[in-house]
Amino acid sequence: PSDADFQGAKIYNYQGCWYRNFALQAVIDFQRNFKPTDTDIILASYPKSGTTWAKALTVALLERSVGGSCNNHPLASGSPHMLVPFFELDLYRKSPEPDLTKFPSSPRVFSTHMPLHTLRQPLMNAPCKIVYMCRNVKDVLVSRWHFYAKMAKKEVERSDLESMVESFCRGVHYFGPFWDSVLSYWRGSLEDPEHVLFMKYEDLKAEPCAQVMRLAEFLGCPFSQEEKRGGSVEKILELCSFGNLSSFDVNQTGTHNIFFRKGEVDDWKNHLTTEMQKKIDMVIQEKFQGSGLEF
Ligand code: A3P
Repeated sequence: PSDADFQGAKIYNYQGCWYRNFALQAVIDFQRNFKPTDTDIILASYPKSGTTWAKALTVALLERSVGGSCNNHPLASGSPHMLVPFFELDLYRKSPEPDLTKFPSSPRVFSTHMPLHTLRQPLMNAPCKIVYMCRNVKDVLVSRWHFYAKMAKKEVERSDLESMVESFCRGVHYFGPFWDSVLSYWRGSLEDPEHVLFMKYEDLKAEPCAQVMRLAEFLGCPFSQEEKRGGSVEKILELCSFGNLSSFDVNQTGTHNIFFRKGEVDDWKNHLTTEMQKKIDMVIQEKFQGSGLEF
């Protein structure tokens, strides 16, 4: 794979996507060794697009369909990221052939930041369900800016945001280019809607009940009329709300709280300069033109 420098580290391009070395090796191991089962569910996203929220909602929907209740819920004691591990950042990072026979959930739920063509390679024709969570890139950038600062245990610095915007526009950044990630799943959802569901963070915020019902339907565990009347949709939304999830005292990973900041739409307006916005808009316009996808 070709390489480039990104924020002082080498990143490697594999099948059009940029990875750090450990993630690259994990992706290759995943492609060589992963054996799908027909009921697998895979949650995909570009980082900072609402992955944690999608994981929690999926766990809550499935738990309910196997008879679980919101009391003593797995989400109250296990972070969504522990319950739904990443292929390339958890499972295949730890071992080239992780033991998936004792997987904690049934059906198995995994997650990934790989683009669809890379993810699909070992899936062959298995009828796995793939859910992609997409978010406005300006909010993604601001979220990532804060996330990296938190990881480095420092205050946010404007120069870091500037270099993030610049690397975003060049398409050279972890799991980038952003547009390839989004467009691979967008097109996949148009071609194969039975197996690929495209969701937007902004839609989930604007019409949460409708979107959660849509997700449940896609996953094969739709809400019955009785459940709807009984407020089951609202209960799941409450369980997975920003306030509730971030209040859980889940310390197993020590990083639970790093995934919660504001959870709002359009916070970018408080941070991006007009010049940054223009640069991003130009790239978005060019890359998404004609795709039918709007931000
Ligand atoms: P902000 O930094 O804009 O607040 P990811 O899970 O892909 O890493 O994305 C993290 C972003 O999703 C953060 O955005 C975080 O606050 C937001 N988020 C996490 N849980 C959420 C929830 N339950 N509802 C809404 N947003 C949530």
